Amino acid sequence: MARSGTIAVIGAGFYGSTTAQRLAEYDVFETVVLTDVVEGKPEGLALDMNQSRPIEGFETRVVGQTTGQDGSGYEAIDGADIVVITAGLPRKPGMSRMDLIETNAKIVRQVSENVAKHAPESVVIVVSNPLDEMTALAQLATRFPRNRVLGQAGMLDTARFTDNVAEAAGVPVGSVRTLTLGSHGDTMVPVPSACTVDGKPLADVLDQARIDELVDRTRNGGAEVVALLKTGSAYYAPSAAAARMARAVHEDSGAVMPVCAWVDGEYGISGVYLGVAAELGAGGVRRVVEIDLTDTEQAALAEAAEAVRAKQVAVQNL
Ligand SMILES: NC(=O)c1ccc[n+]([C@@H]2O[C@H](COP(=O)([O-])OP(=O)(O)OC[C@H]3O[C@@H](n4cnc5c(N)ncnc54)[C@H](O)[C@@H]3O)[C@@H](O)[C@H]2O)c1
Repeated sequence: MARSGTIAVIGAGFYGSTTAQRLAEYDVFETVVLTDVVEGKPEGLALDMNQSRPIEGFETRVVGQTTGQDGSGYEAIDGADIVVITAGLPRKPGMSRMDLIETNAKIVRQVSENVAKHAPESVVIVVSNPLDEMTALAQLATRFPRNRVLGQAGMLDTARFTDNVAEAAGVPVGSVRTLTLGSHGDTMVPVPSACTVDGKPLADVLDQARIDELVDRTRNGGAEVVALLKTGSAYYAPSAAAARMARAVHEDSGAVMPVCAWVDGEYGISGVYLGVAAELGAGGVRRVVEIDLTDTEQAALAEAAEAVRAKQVAVQNL
C-alpha cells in the first residue's frame, strides 16, 4: 500500500510518543505529526524516531511541533485526516480516572478547539481520561459529527481480558476471543458469553469462579499497572489499541472493534458515548454493531450507560 495522508498525535507523553512510533512503523502514512506543550519535547522525540527509520526500514516522516496555550504551532496539523488526542494527566496510584476530570477537561477542550480549526475534516480518536467523558467533550468542543469522534478503551480492555484468559487457560493469545463493552471504568462490562478459547465457549474451559476472577482483574487492569509503575499509567497496550483504530480509519477497512462510540438506539440505549463494538472506516464509525448479550450483560450495559450519561452532560461546563 502506498503511503498517504497526515495523522496527528496531540500530547507527546508516554501514550502519545508510543502511538506515534507505532503509526510511523506501520509505514502507511506520509507524515505523523507529534505535538506537545513542553518546548522541544515533540521535536526531540520526532528526531529520535526519524533516526530509527534506517534501522526499522520505514519511510514515514515524523514531525515534532511544540504548541502554545494560544494555539500557536497548530498549523503543523493543518489538513490532518486523523487526530489522536492523548494530551492530559495520567493517574497516580490510588487515583480513579474520574479524579482527572477537571484538569483534563480543560486540556481536551483547548486541544479540540484547535483541532476543529486546523483539521476540520479529521476523524478524532480520544484516549485522554476519563475516557468516555473526554470523548463526549471532544465532540462538543469540535462540533464534529458524532461518527467522526470516537474513543479508545474497549480495544485495550478486551486485549487485557484476552491476555488474562490466555494465561489462565495456558493457550496462545491467538486462540482466545474476548469482548468488553460499557465504560472505561468501574462499569466496564466484560462479556463472557461472547468469549471463546479455540472456538469453545469460555464456560467450557474455565470454571465460573476463575472467570469471575479474570473479569475482575480485567476491570482493574489499568490500576494494576499504575500500582506497579507508581508514576504514570500503561502505554504499550493502550498505544497499540489507538494505533490499530487509526489504521482501520486510514485504510477504510471496515474492521469491527470495541470502541467508545455514540449510541443512538442500539441495545435500547440512546444519546451517550459508550463502549460498544463498531465498524470503522474512513469517516470514523460506520455503524454500531449489536452483539447478542445475555440479560445480565444487557442490564450491565444499560447501567454503564446511565453511569456515564450524567457526567457526559456535566462535562460541558468544565
Ligand atoms: N483510554 C485509555 O485506555 C488510556 C490508557 C492509558 C492512559 N490513558 C490516558 O492518556 C493520557 C496520557 O497518558 P500518558 O501516559 O501519555 O501521560 P503523560 O503524562 O506521559 O503525557 C501527557 C502529555 O500531555 C501533554 N499535554 C498536557 N497539556 C497539553 C496540551 N494542552 N496540549 C498538548 N499536550 C499537552 C503533557 O505535556 C505530556 O507530555 C492520560 O489522560 C491517561 O490517563 C488512557
